[in-house]
Amino acid sequence: MAKVEVDLNAIPEGKNVIIKWRGKPVFIRHRTAAEIEEANSVNVASLRDPQADADRVKKPEWLVMLGVCTHLGCVPIGEAGDFGGWFCPCHGSHYDISGRIRKGPAPLNLEIPTYDITDDNKLVVG
Ligand code: FES
Repeated sequence: MAKVEVDLNAIPEGKNVIIKWRGKPVFIRHRTAAEIEEANSVNVASLRDPQADADRVKKPEWLVMLGVCTHLGCVPIGEAGDFGGWFCPCHGSHYDISGRIRKGPAPLNLEIPTYDITDDNKLVVG
């Protein structure tokens, strides 16, 4: 299947970019130091889908995930919701700055696609 390449140097800190891969949106966020700290400060055991932030990223400053709500597949909105991450307007699921489900009907965290980040900061999804 086709891979998609993105130059991460073009994405400023604190910004979201959405690309398409296999017909689905992929969310890329260049996280700030404060966001990384926030993502790591959560008590993992308290989460509905318990997953440490470190297990969801290859580099802490880059969060890469499928932009498909794990409830019924809507596309969540960035920089929205009660947890500083994404909000799905279809039925009100709130995801945090690691893309983990925190409130609302979605059962699982936003899915992480297969990807790599090269030494010269190119993201290759797929
Ligand atoms: Fe996102 Fe239902 S599809 S909350």
